[in-house]
Amino acid sequence: MSVKLVKKGDSYFPSAEFKKKAWLKDASVYKESPLKFWEKQAKKLFWFKKWRKVFSHQPPYFKWFVNGKTNITSSIFEENALGFSRIKNKVALIWEPESLEEKPRIITYYELFKKVNRFANALKKMGVKKGDKVGIYLPMIPEAMIAMLACARIGAIHAVVFSAFSPTALKLRLQDTQTKVLITADGYFRKGKVINLKQNADKGIKGTNVKKIVVVERAKNQISMKKNRDYFWHDLTEKESDFCQPAIMDAEDLLFILYTSGSTGRPKGTVQACGGYAVQAYATAKYIFDLKEDDIFWSTADVGWVTGHTYSCYGPLLNGTTFIIFEGLPSWPQPDRWAQTIEKYGATIFYTAPTAIRMFIKTLGSLSRYKFDSLRIISSVGEPIDDSSWNWFFKEVGKGKCSLVDTWWQTETGGIIMTSLPGIGPFKPCFTGLPFPGVKVDILNDKGKSLPPDKEGNLVILPPFNPGLLRGVYKNPKKYAQTYWSQFGPKVYFTSDTAYKDKKGLIRIVGRSDDVIKVAGHRLTTGELEDAINQLKNITESAVIGIPDKIKGEAPIAFIISHAKKSLTALQAEVSAQVRKEIGPIASLKNVYLVADLPKTRSGKIMRRILRKLFSGEDLGDLSTLANAESVEAIRKIIKTQK
Ligand code: WTA
Repeated sequence: MSVKLVKKGDSYFPSAEFKKKAWLKDASVYKESPLKFWEKQAKKLFWFKKWRKVFSHQPPYFKWFVNGKTNITSSIFEENALGFSRIKNKVALIWEPESLEEKPRIITYYELFKKVNRFANALKKMGVKKGDKVGIYLPMIPEAMIAMLACARIGAIHAVVFSAFSPTALKLRLQDTQTKVLITADGYFRKGKVINLKQNADKGIKGTNVKKIVVVERAKNQISMKKNRDYFWHDLTEKESDFCQPAIMDAEDLLFILYTSGSTGRPKGTVQACGGYAVQAYATAKYIFDLKEDDIFWSTADVGWVTGHTYSCYGPLLNGTTFIIFEGLPSWPQPDRWAQTIEKYGATIFYTAPTAIRMFIKTLGSLSRYKFDSLRIISSVGEPIDDSSWNWFFKEVGKGKCSLVDTWWQTETGGIIMTSLPGIGPFKPCFTGLPFPGVKVDILNDKGKSLPPDKEGNLVILPPFNPGLLRGVYKNPKKYAQTYWSQFGPKVYFTSDTAYKDKKGLIRIVGRSDDVIKVAGHRLTTGELEDAINQLKNITESAVIGIPDKIKGEAPIAFIISHAKKSLTALQAEVSAQVRKEIGPIASLKNVYLVADLPKTRSGKIMRRILRKLFSGEDLGDLSTLANAESVEAIRKIIKTQK
């Protein structure tokens, strides 16, 4: 791209040159009826049998493409929308290992197809059947995608667990799904060191139903293999055939379960349906990243999170796109590793998170030494992007020539819900944009009344929602109904985000209205951390809140009450270690404060809101509802003095 974007007022618009070639360039697409829009998209994918009805609604449940029969792997491979012959020998994925000395792996669509089929056959031989759950605990290596696709091929439901999650976090998820087969690796590289993943898996399966473990040999580190339980991936797939019949899946059969944090301590398993998810992944990837045949797409998200599922696997594959997956950290071994990687492969689209952008700014500043000639679209996800990060990203990475599309969505929505389209715009700093075509959202006050521009309120999604919206919380219909469909009735999906719109309808996300915090873009809830801390013998009670952090966006801190005869430093170390052990390094506490009492309501509920305000310096408001208002001043002093 050689032409700068056009600035009008406070927003940018795509150049005429970009517009000319973009898939979507005309705002009339926003006027299309949602059902017509999504049906048109669905027709581009493969169906064994066409749907009877596009959408049916029995609040709070709904279906898309009713009675349609499909398999997402057929739409990716032999029935790809571009035609299999066109993509067969095209590169599907480029795997960049952490070490600069190691060779990348480059896998074509045809090679990937064969690998998926071989592993699908191996899974079948292990007794995995349609509808069975399979756990995947893998780092960013091609086998993670191959394993997901192999499950989808035979109709098994994959449940991916982030590889940096602790054994306890893994166990919780495996217990909930009652998975019998777990796929993991011997290890992977993190900052030059080997992480022994198999050891974590061995610990994590204790007390679960896991009977068989498949191990990918990645780091060749020393591991223990148990006879008749543990098998190497290469041994299982070596002699398998290159073809496995795709399972015929109903559009509403489950494709995967993905755990995410909500307002309580226990993570919930969001469930995705085969048909709707595929349609949403395909259409959003195609139009938001304007995917063309010669694009090289790079999403930095790990496969353990929803962005990794939809945009580091299914979305680009359904579009026959070449994409990059990266094992390491974008800033290692040099802070500009990510920039080197863009140039190395000539990436054309770069999708990352504000937390990464803030780190790039801090460690690199100006990027004049990089031309980034290949880039045409840059994009952000996961948390609100502030004005200075937006401008830096736009100028230093996009060089003022790339469309900057912020994308808002959630694990629950399966794919992007709000954004600016790259060929239409506008791109306005801090604003996420408009609802994607076919999606209706609103901002409501607490009584459910639609709010005018500039008024902050609850962001909701209105019927017919979107094909990728979750179909339930695994084995917990009550939680599904309560979390998403109780605030404004069973026909309005409650996002738990606060937002407002400007006069043109562009939406700006303010943040979560529940106890979810976004730490470096990772979704955690304060309750999960408190549950971990409260397990310690020495701790009587705890409260965790997120406070602003210059790089991570938010970082958790803990307030603890303890009657143990231990020093402050010993308690702090114990609590910090416990959180890392129970959840993982992503949840690391920024600070631990020892207090005598926590602010509580008369019914005993801890008022985290008050703790948050003590940090932000906001007015504490009316404290008369507190049972122990005096605790507040004591905590204020401790925050000031205790390091
Ligand atoms: C937040 C990530 C502002 C939001 C795909 C949402 C964002 C939560 C944005 C979901 C964005 C995501 N701007 N905030 N562009 N994207 N969020 O489930 O609070 O990990 O509810 O899904 O992240 O996080 P999750």
